[in-house]
Amino acid sequence: MNWWKQLNPVKNINIIGPKMIFNGIKGKVKLAEPLKRHTTFKIGGRVRFFIEPRDTADLKLLLILRKRYKIPLLVIGGGSNILAGDRGMDCAVIRLSSPYFKKISFQDNRLEAGAGNFLQRLISCAQKQGLSGLEFLAGIPGTLGGALAMNAGAWERNIADLVEKVTVMDYNGKVKAFTKKYLQFGYRQSNLAKYIILKARLKLDRREKKEITRQIDRYISQRKNTQELSGYSAGCIFKNPEGYSAGRLIDLCGLKGKRIGRAYISPRHANFILHKGKACAKDVLKLMGLAKRQVKDKFNLRLEPEIKIWK
Ligand code: EPU
Repeated sequence: MNWWKQLNPVKNINIIGPKMIFNGIKGKVKLAEPLKRHTTFKIGGRVRFFIEPRDTADLKLLLILRKRYKIPLLVIGGGSNILAGDRGMDCAVIRLSSPYFKKISFQDNRLEAGAGNFLQRLISCAQKQGLSGLEFLAGIPGTLGGALAMNAGAWERNIADLVEKVTVMDYNGKVKAFTKKYLQFGYRQSNLAKYIILKARLKLDRREKKEITRQIDRYISQRKNTQELSGYSAGCIFKNPEGYSAGRLIDLCGLKGKRIGRAYISPRHANFILHKGKACAKDVLKLMGLAKRQVKDKFNLRLEPEIKIWK
């Protein structure tokens, strides 16, 4: 493997050997894993370690080991809001995708779920129990952990509206539970991003199962009518500046359909960048730069990325 010779060396890694570092981990440890396999953008170079811990004890051990060897750590959920660089990263990426982090339970009208659950699974499990509240998230490809960290939302609603309690692990391996009082959510942000989210309890409402299904279908067709669902993308690229729609602003700059390399701005919704395969992060970043500059020049407004850029 010569890909990581170009990267900054992780301290001590050559003494012990990369395979040995996470030896005690019971979950899956992959070396030189391409991130493009784990992002909805299907873009992203290799990371030195890609780890799926088995449970919280395994996660704690992982945190101890990565601290000992000073290995930078990133957490990935559904990979639906990430643009990962083409060059790869000398770090460990963890994903809570083992069955332990995908548990779901119900008590009265409360849903408790592991952070690794995909939102679409939660919506369908809640529907089967006759519990309503998650429907507005229909069509969003992320996991519960990712949705909480960035307060995912659509149609004037955010996941924060449903949250009662969130259990996290800090980067020293300590488990903490936060109730509503401590939690702070804003537009596509929260104070949970500095922790590893383990699970959450959401408060839902009883409703006719048929009505829930109808509501889900309404949101899905609204999405189909207004957004870009073809190709590979990461949803909306920029946050909406207060009082404006980033999509409309980019559209008014005449950038719909603009192509750089293999990536292009959606002809349908200008806040989506997409490709049909083989685009590079570099192409997407150039398109983002172009949209940002033109919106600044034309409207004197600053566009901030909604997606996370890892490079
Ligand atoms: N518009 C245009 N041209 C475009 C795109 C939009 O003129 O190319 C106009 C639309 O016609 C509409 C207005 O701009 O009048 C707003 O557009 P839209 O209803 O599509 O909503 P948005 O502000 O672009 C936001 C969220 C979406 C969320 C939708 C629906 C952000 C950045 N985007 O989009 O979230 O699904 O509302 O609630 O907050 C995401 O987070 O990834 C995402 C896609």
